[in-house]
Amino acid sequence: MNENSIKEALSNVIYPGFTKDIVTFGFVKEINIDADKALVHIDISSSAPEVKAQINDDAVAELKKAGFSSVELNITSPQMPKESSSKGKNLAPGIKNFVMVSSGKGGVGKSTTSVNLAIALAMQGKKVGLLDADIYGPNIPRMMGLEGVKPDIDGQQVIPLKAYGVEMMSMGSLMEPGQSLIWRGSMIMKAIEQFLRDIQWGELDCLVIDMPPGTGDAQLTLAQSVPVTVGITVTTPQTVALDDSRRSLDMFKKLNIPIAGIIENMSGFIAPDTGKEYDIFGKGTTQPMADEFNTKIMAEMPIEPAIREGGDSGQPIVYAKSDSESAKRYMAAAEDLWATIEKINEEGGVDNEAIQPTTAPGQSACSTPAPKQQAPQGGGCGCS
Ligand SMILES: Nc1ncnc2c1ncn2[C@@H]1O[C@H](COP(=O)(O)OP(=O)(O)O)[C@@H](O)[C@H]1O
Ligand SMILES: [Mg+2]
Repeated sequence: MNENSIKEALSNVIYPGFTKDIVTFGFVKEINIDADKALVHIDISSSAPEVKAQINDDAVAELKKAGFSSVELNITSPQMPKESSSKGKNLAPGIKNFVMVSSGKGGVGKSTTSVNLAIALAMQGKKVGLLDADIYGPNIPRMMGLEGVKPDIDGQQVIPLKAYGVEMMSMGSLMEPGQSLIWRGSMIMKAIEQFLRDIQWGELDCLVIDMPPGTGDAQLTLAQSVPVTVGITVTTPQTVALDDSRRSLDMFKKLNIPIAGIIENMSGFIAPDTGKEYDIFGKGTTQPMADEFNTKIMAEMPIEPAIREGGDSGQPIVYAKSDSESAKRYMAAAEDLWATIEKINEEGGVDNEAIQPTTAPGQSACSTPAPKQQAPQGGGCGCS
């Protein structure tokens, strides 16, 4: 019996909620053998006690099966995430934090960013949900490998689908393939509310929400329905894209949503053959805008063919190619995002009381501008 037989045995231990094993994930840190005793240090990314317990039981069973009469495991894990301290209206009170992913326009990589950040957070041990609130163009099911999968219903509630350790719901999972709907403002508002109230989300540390592009009814409704902990703006580096992104950042400001940062997507190109990085749309052009809004660039994500392939094939890069440069940048951005969320909660959290509706329920504040004197203090609609 040697180190390899331990590794082999442990490669049968699947990381709970995922399809990969703990060796592949790189969680097995140190192996020692003392006669027929196996001593193993496993460092997992999840703080959930049930994950630790299951890995412990499975690893002991596999090592005994491999012939070790005695097993000593040291399983280390990060601290449990702290509670949210946010106040105000929350239609999904089981969810502690809400991350709103926005962009000035479509096609800049908002869904790609949402998917990879959500999975990165789950790989880092958080309980994560991903809500595809882009009702006009729901791409998340395909990107998560859940295209065509229909959710189960429990009474009046829809049970979210699950992939890569992330709970997911999308209008695309509720409609027939290829079907399109024409949405009026009031329908969008209803849909967003139902996504929060009528989906049986688990007790989540955070819900990542992929918004439709722009600043309108969906954004306003979301901000009124739950206390949004942070907003992220996804942009590409061209000057024309930045103009739109500025509107998205301005909307966060108007809705009193703290800005976690900007993801500069399609920032340079990494050639798949040489790994060399080229500048295409201009890199680093986003920094002055970040300064203007007193925030930071969370990540510069290169154009990498594997990112697109991962999206199209439902195998997001952060999980499927976890040692790629892009995956590492997503993981770092997720850590940064979480640090911001914890800081906001330590400082008292967010409160959406100031952005409650000034129009009748079901009536759009954006398509029917409210009289000026009704505009709420410090809030208001960010639509333009
Ligand atoms: N960094 C990137 N490198 C390569 N392809 C990307 C990158 N980011 C996004 N894409 C691809 O660009 C297209 C648009 O991205 P998507 O996330 O759907 O944008 P949005 O949600 O903003 O409309 C998708 O096909 C996606 O796979
Ligand atoms: Mg999208």
